[in-house]
Amino acid sequence: MGRLKDKVAIITGGAGGIGIATAKLFLDQGAMVVIADISKEALEKASLEINHENLSYCVVDVSKPKDNEKMVAHTLDVHNRIDIFFANAGIEGTSKPIAEYPDDIFDSVIDVNLKGVWYGCKYVIPKMKAGGSVMITSSVAGLKGFAGLGAYVSTKHAIIGIMRVAALEFASNKIRVNTIHPGPVNNDMMRRIEKDISPENPGEVLKGFETTIPFGRYVDSNEIAQMALFLASEDSKMITGCMHIVDGGMLT
Ligand code: NAI
Repeated sequence: MGRLKDKVAIITGGAGGIGIATAKLFLDQGAMVVIADISKEALEKASLEINHENLSYCVVDVSKPKDNEKMVAHTLDVHNRIDIFFANAGIEGTSKPIAEYPDDIFDSVIDVNLKGVWYGCKYVIPKMKAGGSVMITSSVAGLKGFAGLGAYVSTKHAIIGIMRVAALEFASNKIRVNTIHPGPVNNDMMRRIEKDISPENPGEVLKGFETTIPFGRYVDSNEIAQMALFLASEDSKMITGCMHIVDGGMLT
């Protein structure tokens, strides 16, 4: 208990599966948490579910610079400091070969997954306290190609570059920056991917993915939250510029 006592954390994509699990764990560990998400409705629902006096929320489109500034202003207004930033918002796009990939969906994936992380780093990190920690959610798709997921794979690779540069640029402030690489997580995003790939038979896709994971099961959102807690806490105080895989052996 108390590994994040009195720390202030922003979590983007905070109303989604990994975001909610992480918000709960950080609050349990004594943090004050701001969840930021594009969906007001999802934020209201998540706030009811999490139900904690040290939680607030902010409606933010991470792909918009002004929204990132608004998120920083909200957090400083409410808590007067920022110690932890979890840049976790992301979208999957669709599953199509490069030659058929719709340009508008490609643009939207770049906007959220790449520009969203860039603007988060640009606007949030300079306002953070020395000794702070930044975690960026990439994916196993940030370390390996998956046919059909060109836009997603491209962005999840690219944000490793942002992480590495930010880790170097903010090292003098003792702010650490790392990526987390989840394997397939059994939550809403995976269910949307299944429906997209196989609208008639999504269950088969789910089983197919599972056979590629040596541990024989999907990752749980709480297992990503545990990695985020480790990286946010003092336990990892000499770890920066690194990639942290949580995938049940999928990439091995
Ligand atoms: P999710 O779909 O439950 O959560 C994503 C959240 O991001 C949603 O609440 C959504 O409203 C929010 N969001 C989307 N666009 C946004 C925008 N422009 N601004 C602010 N918020 C926005 O999925 P999950 O699993 O919680 O995803 C979190 C992160 O984990 C994402 O970056 C995803 O790419 C990554 N990831 C997920 C995996 C999975 O199997 N679910 C596997 C590997 C990585």
